[in-house]
Amino acid sequence: MEMFILVYICFAVKFNLVLSLSPEDYPTLGSKKAPRLLPKNILKTVFDYQEAQNYTVFLYKQDHGEVYAGGTNFVLRLNTTSFQIIEKHDLNTTGSLECEEDPCQNVITVIEELNDGVFVCGTNGHRPQCWTLPSSPNSSPQSSDGSEISPVLYSQNFLSLAVEGDLYAAAPFDRNGRSLQFRRTAGRRTRVSMYNNWVSEPTFIGSSWVKRENDPDNEKIYVFFREKNSDTNPEADHWISRVARVCKVDEGGSKRFFQNMWTTFIKARLVCGFPEESLYLNRLQDIYVLHDRNWNNTRVYAIFTSNWNSTAVCIYTIGMIEDVFEKSTFKGYNKTIPTPRPGHCIKNSRTIPLATVSVVKDHPEMAGWVHSVHYNTPFYVSSYNYTKITVDQVRGADNSVYNVLLLATDSGKIHKVLEAGPKPVIILETQPLSRSTILSIKLDSKKRKLVVGFPDSIKTMDLQRCEYGSSCQDCVLAQDPYCSWSTDMFQCTASALGNIQNVMTGNPNICPSRDSKLRHRREAQTSPFAHNVSLGVPFYLSCPVDSYHAEYRWKNGHHHSPCLQMRSQCLHLIPNMTQDDYGTYECESQEQGYSKVVTAYLLKAQDIPEPRMEEHSLNNASQPVARPWLTLGLLSAALQLWHL
Ligand SMILES: *[C@@H]1O[C@H](CO)[C@@H](O)[C@H](O)[C@H]1NC(C)=O
Ligand SMILES: *[C@@H]1O[C@H](CO)[C@@H](O)[C@H](O)[C@H]1NC(C)=O
Ligand SMILES: *[C@@H]1O[C@H](CO)[C@@H](O)[C@H](O)[C@H]1NC(C)=O
Ligand SMILES: *[C@@H]1O[C@H](CO)[C@@H](O)[C@H](O)[C@H]1NC(C)=O
Ligand SMILES: *[C@@H]1O[C@H](CO)[C@@H](O)[C@H](O)[C@H]1NC(C)=O
Ligand SMILES: *[C@@H]1O[C@H](CO)[C@@H](O)[C@H](O)[C@H]1NC(C)=O
Ligand SMILES: *[C@@H]1O[C@H](CO)[C@@H](O)[C@H](O)[C@H]1NC(C)=O
Ligand SMILES: *[C@@H]1O[C@H](CO)[C@@H](O)[C@H](O)[C@H]1NC(C)=O
Ligand SMILES: *[C@@H]1O[C@H](CO)[C@@H](O)[C@H](O)[C@H]1NC(C)=O
Repeated sequence: MEMFILVYICFAVKFNLVLSLSPEDYPTLGSKKAPRLLPKNILKTVFDYQEAQNYTVFLYKQDHGEVYAGGTNFVLRLNTTSFQIIEKHDLNTTGSLECEEDPCQNVITVIEELNDGVFVCGTNGHRPQCWTLPSSPNSSPQSSDGSEISPVLYSQNFLSLAVEGDLYAAAPFDRNGRSLQFRRTAGRRTRVSMYNNWVSEPTFIGSSWVKRENDPDNEKIYVFFREKNSDTNPEADHWISRVARVCKVDEGGSKRFFQNMWTTFIKARLVCGFPEESLYLNRLQDIYVLHDRNWNNTRVYAIFTSNWNSTAVCIYTIGMIEDVFEKSTFKGYNKTIPTPRPGHCIKNSRTIPLATVSVVKDHPEMAGWVHSVHYNTPFYVSSYNYTKITVDQVRGADNSVYNVLLLATDSGKIHKVLEAGPKPVIILETQPLSRSTILSIKLDSKKRKLVVGFPDSIKTMDLQRCEYGSSCQDCVLAQDPYCSWSTDMFQCTASALGNIQNVMTGNPNICPSRDSKLRHRREAQTSPFAHNVSLGVPFYLSCPVDSYHAEYRWKNGHHHSPCLQMRSQCLHLIPNMTQDDYGTYECESQEQGYSKVVTAYLLKAQDIPEPRMEEHSLNNASQPVARPWLTLGLLSAALQLWHL
């Protein structure tokens, strides 16, 4: 028997070589940093485009239950209940222009809610144009110049933000990307721009208006971007990430000085990494601002990438950002800081003293850095390449509010991640049908849906899907604040007060005892899959993985053996069937002290070998299989390795 185990382990090691062929598509069993579940068909297609889109933009109007989706030459208005088209606006290239390129397209890049209307801009054959969509379908949209609001090419960097009827935007002026800067471009207030020296080769990532209920004149617009690092030390990263702010009431300087320029623009370094080791992720990729009634507690979730192999999520509060802007010294400026302090909001910005505006002009950077919450370290470092983020708030069965991050990867997957205090729990990962890029994501918090824009379709992800299994333990282990165990309905269902749930730890001990463990065991024992196997043949048993955070093992009488992971299956290999190998096998999973029998087999002796060559996909988690190894190409490759 010892010999057998040795051979087995030897085999296992070699087998792993084969298994590691596609590690990124399936998480490694037992790794808490991996997604716990990979549910199937969780994304539902609600709309197919006639032609694949290169760029899409969404506007979500929560109050109306509508989503606007902009593509090439059109804007769709969709009902978020039925996802039927309410209206389609064809916005073909306008004006008598000749496009330099064929076809002459109008890629919609901006959709904002402005003055109760919907304001749309597009590339319009390299001459950006904007339209105010009519409220009645019969009239045609009013159009206006869109330069500095929409980029000339959809692949260029740009952003837009509507605030109280004013439009803020960053977009380059021409095809070469010149004159890319953050401006107030349209609306009631004065047009205001940035001073040229303030940023260097910027990439704007996001912007947000943070309201202050009792202090509207002090409200700021925050801009998140990355730019070229002025530190040219060869060890320094080429890029550096920033948060900047301007006052909403800023209308530029006086006629004599800084007219139509921001008089309150100041910026600071946004740090994400490990300061103690001087290890930083410097490339801001996306942000999401989770507003709070108390502006100080408004949270900024940011994805960063590095020139090493990971991405990270860092979290900041507006309070922490304001702390730096209000208290730090100005980099490179060592005289007394003038009053009013540079960056302070003054209702009539044209009256701000020259001394104050001069500091803004020449030294807009704070000496202090903005560090992230959780002791200055990232909330979460990941080997997944995250590209987009949004955050939902959910009330759990205990009436507490939990934050759930929804992260899109560059390979078309979405991760649902619980913010369990300072540590993440990856509740699940969606499985894309193909490696399709995710162009945009939009949260519908009321309907508990994530709207996902793919090149070929719009899909939705039901955030309140509670298919976690048929026991209280399975439901609690999921740590999904949207779902909890109802003792009345005896199922895992939408969170309601009084249901059973343990979001923070997922410990299933709170479930009524004497419940599913016994039931599961009984079920498995009453119906093990029976197989007739001949002596001297290799054979394997498989068990579907239903949680990548669990540990799996095989039990055969008093023998325990490890489980060999192959994608979404956990295998037991019998190199050469002997008399001792007959009997009952149970695949047992264990997670947080809760163990259950996932599947069971009974191997019986058979005299005549049966040469079965069935076509079965190992991906089929719904159906455990037990069969001779050699029926599968991969396994036979493994066997060959073993014989070497
Ligand atoms: C997407 O881009 C490709 C290549 O530039 C182009 O051929 C195609 O027409 C574009 N699709 C749309 C819908 O604009
Ligand atoms: C959206 O669709 C639902 C169901 O079809 C319907 O009840 C609702 O009135 C529609 N809403 C709008 C704004 O059209
Ligand atoms: C980078 O990837 C390597 C190999 O996959 C891994 O060992 C290392 O831990 C990763 N680095 C970080 C910081 O995650
Ligand atoms: C705002 O947040 C900062 C940083 O977290 C904190 O120092 C400050 O006391 C908070 N202020 C208020 C009014 O809550
Ligand atoms: C202030 O900065 C200037 C120029 O960088 C320098 O020459 C001067 O010594 C500094 N003064 C103080 C008090 O640090
Ligand atoms: C991550 O995704 C972005 C966006 O698709 C891409 O530009 C970048 O090269 C990717 N990084 C890695 C390390 O794959
Ligand atoms: C196994 O063998 C028994 C008798 O030897 C037979 O009755 C039974 O049908 C066989 N089962 C399978 C699954 O082949
Ligand atoms: C299986 O074991 C039997 C008896 O020990 C032996 O005769 C046979 O050669 C073995 N088969 C393989 C493929 O190793
Ligand atoms: C998975 O198993 C089910 C149930 O036996 C079967 O209908 C389906 O075709 C299988 N799918 C694959 C990909 O093998």
